[in-house]
Amino acid sequence: MIDHATIDRIIDAAEISDVVGDFVTLRKRGVNMLGLCPFHNEKTPSFTVSPAKGIFKCFGCGKGGNSVNFIMEHENLTYPEALKWLAKKYNIEVREEEETEEQKQLKDSRESLMIVSGFAQKYFTRYLWEENEGRTIGLGYFRERSFRDDILKKFEVGFAPDGKTPFTEAAQKQGYKLDFLEKTGLTIKRDDWLRDRFAGRVMFPIHNLAGRVIAFGGRILKDDKKTAKYLNSPESDIYHKSRVLYGIYQAKREMTRTDKCYLVEGYTDVMSLHQVGIENVVASSGTSLTPDQIRMVRRFTPNITIIYDGDAAGIKASLRGIDLVLEEGMNVKVLPLPDGEDPDSFAKKMGASGFQEYMEQNETDFIQFKTRLLLKSTENDPVAKARLISDVIRSVSVIPDSITRSVYIKECSRLLGVSEEVLYTEVRKQKHKQTEEFRKREFREQNRRQTAPPQPVQEEPVVRPVKLLVEELEFLRFLLKYCKADLWEEEDEETHETQILSVGEFMIDELEADELVSENPLFKKLFYEVRENLYKENFDPWKHFVFNADTAISKFATDLLSEKYTESKIWEKGGAFKEKEEDILDILVPKLVNEYKFQKVREMQDSIQNEINMAHKNKDDEQLMELLNTMSNLNRIKRELLEKLGNRAVN
Ligand code: CTP
Ligand code: MN
Repeated sequence: MIDHATIDRIIDAAEISDVVGDFVTLRKRGVNMLGLCPFHNEKTPSFTVSPAKGIFKCFGCGKGGNSVNFIMEHENLTYPEALKWLAKKYNIEVREEEETEEQKQLKDSRESLMIVSGFAQKYFTRYLWEENEGRTIGLGYFRERSFRDDILKKFEVGFAPDGKTPFTEAAQKQGYKLDFLEKTGLTIKRDDWLRDRFAGRVMFPIHNLAGRVIAFGGRILKDDKKTAKYLNSPESDIYHKSRVLYGIYQAKREMTRTDKCYLVEGYTDVMSLHQVGIENVVASSGTSLTPDQIRMVRRFTPNITIIYDGDAAGIKASLRGIDLVLEEGMNVKVLPLPDGEDPDSFAKKMGASGFQEYMEQNETDFIQFKTRLLLKSTENDPVAKARLISDVIRSVSVIPDSITRSVYIKECSRLLGVSEEVLYTEVRKQKHKQTEEFRKREFREQNRRQTAPPQPVQEEPVVRPVKLLVEELEFLRFLLKYCKADLWEEEDEETHETQILSVGEFMIDELEADELVSENPLFKKLFYEVRENLYKENFDPWKHFVFNADTAISKFATDLLSEKYTESKIWEKGGAFKEKEEDILDILVPKLVNEYKFQKVREMQDSIQNEINMAHKNKDDEQLMELLNTMSNLNRIKRELLEKLGNRAVN
């Protein structure tokens, strides 16, 4: 772990415009600086850097943060890696904090496993390119499958020599301990004999996010029905199958750039797509997709397209995948391939431009995919059609965000020729069913454990009400009602010209600078729409939201603006305000912004404390460090807020 003092020094040194300036040409614009966003393609600059606040923000793609975040994002590094990157830039010596004996041992052992795996990869790769057996059998095989050399090198594939223990012997001769060879599964050890696990196979190393080898898949070359085609490394301290995606290291940069990820099944599928120029691709490698894998993709992009084989098994797998991805709140599309083709074979058949063209033309959203697929089998059978509707709606009902859900319901309604009301009823039914299932599961679990009598499980409301804090509501009400009103005059630090700051500008700026925009979907939607339209001359929030096509929004805005929520805490506590609110905006607005922030910070601290406890339990140092840092930032913000709010008692 990097100690706190060092982290502070790095953060102090890493001046935002200097850090960003290494990658983006910035022009001065008032107190801020402006440039072309490095995270998405744009022609007019919307990427802003605020040296005063130490942050960057792109108003086109929404990316933003401090200088460490910028390096994490731009260089695809983890938090500690980004800190070390910056430390190097500013010649700051990184001292690692003392670790407990237990931590040290775990880390040492994990490190040893990675070192052994790294050695094995280099050994197998060298064997493939330089030894006779490797060249004729291994390289011959890859060439037969028309893989280009640059692709073979990029994925660091190799060949494990045939025989009992040629690899194990070579490793031991180099001083690698049998213990680690066994723990990584490279060597199989029984009472009185040793064996190379992967003897005679072509080797696909599996890399973690940072590019280190943590496991292998080995493919047999003989057509032997009795032996599994692929043999994989067993689970170990460095390899947890359900948390790894093959190709993520080679894909991450392109995933960020294109804001999209393709998902395939196998090692060779990933490699073949790279060969036709598609690099934002990962594979679940034979296991069925897990939530952990999906979350890993979500660190880079919320958009997943599942490419699947056109056979029955492929279709079934992708249907399962769809719901999992939706549950994680991500957007999912599907790309079906012709029957009998997998991405590898099809990419080779079509070539680069043919394949890319096919992708563009055949990618469909999941609703269309499901309905078309299922409609085929229903024809004019009403019972079958009802089943189809409930099947499609089951997928819709797992989407966490209600606004996204309503968009899909509209599309379903159109495709299936069923009214939206009927579909909403069906969604409610499904959600109810899911809650029931969840309850039953919990119940069974508890009975099984028999530690305590079953607790009544709190029933989740069928349609979740929009739960907003009173501070959030008050914030939105002011934002909508007064966004164009003048707040006060401000002097530009450089030109000394006075400018009038509007309520909306102030409110939006304050939340974004502290990254405290509520995660609530309704809040977010309203907030960002105001921001987008703030400078449009004829933007009238009342018209915009009250007459919104989305009924949820229009209803909410109507309630807000019809003063239903005016009796907020602020008034009760203040008590003394007699003036009309529009006459004292300069007092009210900063106050309610701070009240809002204070609540948000508390909310965040609660959830981060939970995560800290988890990270402690899991001994996840990297995560822990990141969390502690966030926590201390929040503490700082909280202290400042308390000062501004006049040190009122914390409750
Ligand atoms: N797989 C596995 N064990 C097996 C079979 C498959 O782990 N016995 C995994 C591998 O990661 C493989 C993926 O499942 O890449 C997809 O399997 P499959 O479609 O059968 O293999 P392909 O990737 O098409 O392999 P190849 O083209 O080399 O035959
Ligand atoms: Mn294949």
